[in-house]
Amino acid sequence: MAEPLRIALAGLGTVGAGVIRLIEANAALIARRAGRPIQVTVVSARDRNKDRGVDLSAFAWEDDMVILGERADVDVVVEMVGGSDGPALALARTTFEAGKSLVTANKAMIAHHGLELATKAEAAKVALKFEAAVAGGIPVIKGLREGAAANEFQRVYGILNGTCNYILSTMEDTGRDFGNVLTEAQAKGYAEADPAFDIEGTDAAHKLSILAAIAFGAKIDFTAVATTGITRIRAADIAQADALGYVIRLIGMAEPGRNGDGPALFQRVHPHLVPVDHPLAHVDGATNAVVAEGNFSGRLLFQGAGAGDGPTASAVVADLIDIARGEIGAPFSVPVSELEALVPAETGHRAGRSYIRFMVTDRPGVLAELTAAMRDAGVSIESLIQKGRTEEGGEVMVAMVTHEGPESSVSEALRLLDGSPSLTEAPLVLHILED
Ligand SMILES: NC(=O)c1ccc[n+]([C@@H]2O[C@H](COP(=O)([O-])OP(=O)(O)OC[C@H]3O[C@@H](n4cnc5c(N)ncnc54)[C@H](OP(=O)(O)O)[C@@H]3O)[C@@H](O)[C@H]2O)c1
Repeated sequence: MAEPLRIALAGLGTVGAGVIRLIEANAALIARRAGRPIQVTVVSARDRNKDRGVDLSAFAWEDDMVILGERADVDVVVEMVGGSDGPALALARTTFEAGKSLVTANKAMIAHHGLELATKAEAAKVALKFEAAVAGGIPVIKGLREGAAANEFQRVYGILNGTCNYILSTMEDTGRDFGNVLTEAQAKGYAEADPAFDIEGTDAAHKLSILAAIAFGAKIDFTAVATTGITRIRAADIAQADALGYVIRLIGMAEPGRNGDGPALFQRVHPHLVPVDHPLAHVDGATNAVVAEGNFSGRLLFQGAGAGDGPTASAVVADLIDIARGEIGAPFSVPVSELEALVPAETGHRAGRSYIRFMVTDRPGVLAELTAAMRDAGVSIESLIQKGRTEEGGEVMVAMVTHEGPESSVSEALRLLDGSPSLTEAPLVLHILED
């Protein structure tokens, strides 16, 4: 059999240790499929003495991970450290300077520095692969750039953050409120001690920007993703959505658009109402799912574990198998020089239906004020529900679903209501996912 592909592994946490376990457990079948063994030669992390539940005695240890790519006993560097900048980025740069390939699961680094790193990898004629960076164990990047490569994509969207999906589906199952479920998710390890990155939508936006670049041949532009998290969703919104035939899911969505005559790219991460008969409505717990609509393939659905040591290691080692086979390819599917610089699509003229929830003071005339603003902005109301009567002057919830119309009209209606003493908090607008 051919010479082994020699791996330097930086980061020995959840995913790094998972990669060691997988390479050991499936060594023989990996070697058969890759045409050569895949062998870890050297590892690096912060603490050499930490027990990681895996035997490291067969590997060399490197204190300074940034020089891993320069070592003579290394063909490929696997970066499992994390963080958009810092040691992970320094390691990626030195790896390409040394003419070695890099595999990473680091969506933050690819979202922020993907173009620079892809340019460096292409110049060095080596691989930059990041299957594990989007939706963990689901081979969605391979799905788009290989299996469905013949298609023009009309839309790519999905559930890209397991923490948010766990929280929303648990709120749905139990009727409990956001804060309560978040605390439980943290205790169970489904949410980080600092959950902001997940619940504010940033993690999903990182992943969406990567998917959009690959699906639409665009230069990756994380800053163009309009992002809203799930922190304002109340148990009452979920109950209301349920009564209307929907569930609430945090959806990342990208599709081509036009600004005047020019091509543009629409990218948004936002909680949506998803019809109960849509496949994404049945994606529960920490599961991820991505839908890609190809002009010849039709709707493709990729679903599976979006995180965890095993699934993420599965995606990382699949990238290593590609490299062992000599499959390098452009990191973003087409060479960086051919990626289009697409401007963010203006959202105002987008048409759709929305759910709008108001928290208002319970007194005569408030409902009329809300509906007048809708009328004056040209928003047509499909249904309107006022929940719970209180003592005169207390707070009540008013939820509406609009007919299809421009998103700009809904924004205009909210502008007309801005500063109204009837509102006890800013209205919440959720878009409705259309088939
Ligand atoms: N966990 C998942 O399910 C999952 C899923 C998809 C993608 N990812 C991505 O995979 C990457 C790794 O995630 P993880 O969950 O495995 O993280 P983790 O458990 O926190 O492990 C990080 C590892 O990096 C090492 N490290 C951190 N900072 C370092 C530094 N300054 N110098 C040297 N070593 C350093 C740590 O060393 P010590 O152990 O010595 O402290 C640890 O071994 C991230 O980019 C993450 O976004 C994770």
